[in-house]
Amino acid sequence: MKRISVLNGVNLGALGTRRPEVYGSRTLADIEEWISAEFPGGVEFDFRQTDYEGEMVGWVREAGRSSDGLVINPGAWTHYSYALHDALEAVEVPKVEAHLSNIHAREEWRRHSVVSPAVDATVVGMGVFGYKVAVSYVLERLGRV
Ligand code: DQA
Repeated sequence: MKRISVLNGVNLGALGTRRPEVYGSRTLADIEEWISAEFPGGVEFDFRQTDYEGEMVGWVREAGRSSDGLVINPGAWTHYSYALHDALEAVEVPKVEAHLSNIHAREEWRRHSVVSPAVDATVVGMGVFGYKVAVSYVLERLGRV
């Protein structure tokens, strides 16, 4: 059984009502349920969301110790949190940055991710399917598929 942390950052708890034309109409709980259903058996998910940067930093470190892999959507922290970059950099499990929207096709300030250099791979613009791609990649790295 592999354990994968799926961490969602600031404002992602508002999915469902927050700009559905950009992020879709599913709530984070819907998305987490869908991800679990897409990987029946063999994977134990640790789903978490926070609006507090320090809490997320702690969870990233914890995932490095107690999970086999990590998928993170840092929300707006993506664009300016060097603290999150440094936390991710220090984690050695397979790690993927995922974004629902195509950040490269949006405002100028969203086009740059300060956390990307600290992860193994990035998925953008695939909506919720991006989480499935990210988890699949982590499992691939763990030699499960
Ligand atoms: C996001 C993109 C970020 O720019 C934004 O701040 C978010 C969501 C995405 O999933 O597309 O909160 O990470």
